[in-house]
Amino acid sequence: MAQFTLPKNSKITDGKTWAYPTGARDVRECRIYRWNPDDGKNPRMDTYYVDRGDCGPMVLDALIWIKNNIDPTLTFRRSCREGVCGSCSMNIDGTNTLACTKAMADIKGVVKIYPLPHMPVVKDLVPDLTNFYAQHAAIEPWLQTTSPTPQKEWKQSHEDRQKLDGLYECILCACCSTACPSYWWNSERFMGPAALLQADRWLKDSRDEATGRRLDNLEDPFRLYRCHTIMNCAKACPKSLNPAKAIAEIRRMMVERQV
Ligand code: SF4
Ligand code: SF4
Ligand code: FES
Repeated sequence: MAQFTLPKNSKITDGKTWAYPTGARDVRECRIYRWNPDDGKNPRMDTYYVDRGDCGPMVLDALIWIKNNIDPTLTFRRSCREGVCGSCSMNIDGTNTLACTKAMADIKGVVKIYPLPHMPVVKDLVPDLTNFYAQHAAIEPWLQTTSPTPQKEWKQSHEDRQKLDGLYECILCACCSTACPSYWWNSERFMGPAALLQADRWLKDSRDEATGRRLDNLEDPFRLYRCHTIMNCAKACPKSLNPAKAIAEIRRMMVERQV
């Protein structure tokens, strides 16, 4: 039987329990993953008590409240707080999602917060997305044409524009790729659901003239075909997109061009 030994510093220890807010009537307990690359210590789970009466309803509101009122060293990404920038993705209550659109009221018991799974951690809740962004760049996410550039604009019919629905809305939050077991084990070689959904978005664009080359780039046992249709990606997407369907579409195009 295979035996796995994790490195010593991978063990998550019990962390600090921070002070209970004085005078608060409605308090929510949050346990949050903490790791600082500079102190040489193991990761730990810190416990914080959030005064719901002084804080907004979302998990991101709780994180900001903790940072402002209890622990300014707590580190996380956020920007829009509207579910459109993709910065605040993390693992909350066992699911990859956006902290700014996840209501604390929808979580039973203690609110447990970790960084996105199976990614290197920069600090606390901030994952290193270097490889994820490189994969997005590798699918060349821009319009490519060989026809002479029109005087005004590249036109597209309403019907062709609608073919991009369900694809263009991706906010690159990485919730899908970091929920995908195939991506966990092969993230250097499998492009992952987010990059492949973007690949499909450009393959579907009626104005793009690089379809053949785009498909050639994906024709590889790992880049595309490592998807085993486990569907975690579609379940994880906070924008209700379906990367597994996009991957199936690319596979269909691969088959059709050989007929
Ligand atoms: S359907 Fe494919 S891409 Fe989506 S989670 Fe499963 S293996 Fe990963
Ligand atoms: S497909 Fe959904 S989960 Fe994946 S990166 Fe885009 S928005 Fe995030
Ligand atoms: S802060 Fe922009 S998606 Fe959450």
